[in-house]
Amino acid sequence: MERTLAILKPDSVAAGSAGKMIARLQEEGFAILGIKKMRLTEAQAQAFYEVHKERPFYGSLVEFMMSGSVMPIALERENAVAHLREVMGATDVAKAAPGTLRNLFGTSIERNAVHGSDSPENAAIELSFFFSRAELLAAQ
Ligand code: RTP
Ligand code: MG
Repeated sequence: MERTLAILKPDSVAAGSAGKMIARLQEEGFAILGIKKMRLTEAQAQAFYEVHKERPFYGSLVEFMMSGSVMPIALERENAVAHLREVMGATDVAKAAPGTLRNLFGTSIERNAVHGSDSPENAAIELSFFFSRAELLAAQ
């Protein structure tokens, strides 16, 4: 079993797509260990995407991520990291395969509906950003 972090981004939460996206994740065999709805502060959005701070889209990405409520979700499944990335589709919604979450619910390369950790190592770091050890332990 492996864990990963998804975040339903402000565009998909505001559009009312959260329920459909969560149902899809469960259909894909993910167990939901934890789920929250919250509004990120600027410091939180900056820190979460710090790896991109030198990229030209960083400022806009941070503004987008604090523009409305997000829903961090702690997920567990075999091969969770890779499978979530597959279900999400490509970063640019124009390149996301039909039926992927970004194809169905995203609207641009930035407003792409959902985040997913990109490695098991980063998943552990990102899960601990939003969920305490006690919260994840209680879900077992
Ligand atoms: P994420 O981290 O959110 O799961 O997305 P990702 O791995 O597919 O893509 P990444 O390269 O990590 O980029 C993080 C987020 O930044 C926004 N972005 N905007 N305007 C642009 O060219 C651009 N490129 C990326 C997207 O919201 C992307 O998901
Ligand atoms: Mg990424």
